[in-house]
Amino acid sequence: MPQLAKRVGRAKPSAIMAVAEKARKLKAEGRDIVSFSIGVPNFLPGEHVYAAAREALARDSGQYGSNRGSEALLDAFLGHMAKLGLEGYRRENCVVAVGAKHILYNLFEAMLDEGDEIAFPTPYWTSYLDIAEIVGAKIRLLPCGSEQDYKLTPAQLDEALSHKPRVFLFNNPSNPTGMVYTPDEVKALAAVIAKHPDTWVITDDIYNRMLFDGIAYSNFVQFEPSLRERTVFVDSLSKTYGMPGWRVGLMAGPQEVAKAVVTLNSNHITNIPEIVTAAAVAALSGPQDVPKAKCAEFAGKRDQVMATLESIPGLICPRPQGAFYVFPDISCAFGKSHKGVKIDNDVDFCNVLLEAKGVACVPGSAFGEPRSMRISYTCPTEQLPVGLERIREFFAELS
Ligand SMILES: Cc1ncc(COP(=O)(O)O)c(C=O)c1O
Repeated sequence: MPQLAKRVGRAKPSAIMAVAEKARKLKAEGRDIVSFSIGVPNFLPGEHVYAAAREALARDSGQYGSNRGSEALLDAFLGHMAKLGLEGYRRENCVVAVGAKHILYNLFEAMLDEGDEIAFPTPYWTSYLDIAEIVGAKIRLLPCGSEQDYKLTPAQLDEALSHKPRVFLFNNPSNPTGMVYTPDEVKALAAVIAKHPDTWVITDDIYNRMLFDGIAYSNFVQFEPSLRERTVFVDSLSKTYGMPGWRVGLMAGPQEVAKAVVTLNSNHITNIPEIVTAAAVAALSGPQDVPKAKCAEFAGKRDQVMATLESIPGLICPRPQGAFYVFPDISCAFGKSHKGVKIDNDVDFCNVLLEAKGVACVPGSAFGEPRSMRISYTCPTEQLPVGLERIREFFAELS
C-alpha cells in the first residue's frame, strides 16, 4: 500500500472526544451518566436566526459565494466588533470560514512554515497543539499553572518572545480554564508584545461575550494600536449563539493576512453556504437576548460549581470569570485510592470518577496540564447539582 503523508501521522484524535465516547458507551449500557466533558453549549439560537435561514432557503441562488464571506456577514461582524471596542476595521481586514478551528488552521498555514516556532500558554485548547503539529511547527509551551491562576505573566511572555517565535497565540477567555485576563493584565502583556516586532499575534477570543462579574472584554490592539499591523482577532458563532454545528468562524487582522486566508479558502472550501450566512448575519446583528440570558445562566452555574469545589479540602481552583469551564487542580488526589483503586494521575482520576460515580470530566493532560481536569458545566440545569454532589462524595471517599 502507498504511504500516507507524514503530517497525517502527526495528527492525533481528540482526547476530549475519547472521554465523551467512553461516557456515551456507559450510558448505552444503561449507566446513569452526568457529562461534564464536551464544551458545547446546551441551547439553540433564537427564532430570528431560524427565520433568516428559512427565508434564505426560499430565495436560494444555489451558486458559489465569496471566498472572503458575503458583504452582509462581513458588515455584521464589523458591527459586532465595534460593540466590543474593536473599531477601524474594514471588510478587507475580515474573512469568514468554517468555524474558528478552520480560521486557526488557515492562519497556521498562512503564517508558519515547517520548523517555524509558535508559542502559547499552557493549559491550551487541545487543537492548538494538534494543528501546530500537523503544519510541522515547533511548539514553545508557556506553563501557567494554578499557582499563577493559569495566566501568563508579562515576564514569561517577554522571555518567550525573546526567542522570536513566528506566532504568539493567546486565548481569552480561556478554554479549558475559564479564566479571563483583566484589561490591566491585557495592557501589560500588550506593552511586552510591542517590544518584539518579529512575531504575529493571534487572539482567539471566541468566548468574548461570555464574561461574568462585570469584567470587560479587552484586546492588545486597544492598548497598543501599532499591534494592529500584526494581530489577528478570531471569533466564532459556535458558543455564544448556540450554533456549533452551523460552522461559522470569523477573523479580523492585517489585510495581507486576510488576503492569504481568502486564498486558502478559495482552495479549501470556496465559501460557507448561503443559508448559514443568512443565519449568521441574523445572529450577529439581531436581538442578543439568547446569548445574554445564557451568559447570566452560566455565571450562576459557575457559582454552583465553585461552591462545591471550594468545599473540598485540598482542592485548588482559580475562580473563572468567563466561558463555561472550571479547571480544578486535582493533584491532592494523586497517590490516593478510591475503594481500593489507585489514582496516580489525572487520567486515572477521570477514569475512576467515571466508572465509580458516572461523572465524565476531561483529564487536564488533554490541555497540557496533567495536575488538573476540566469541568464543562453546560449540562442541563437539573443535572449540575447531581454531578457536583457525586464529585464531592468521590473526594470524600478517597483514602
Ligand atoms: C478556544 C477555542 N477556540 C476555537 C474553538 C473552535 O470553535 P469553532 O466551533 O468555531 O470551530 C473552540 C471550540 O471548542 C475553542 O474552545
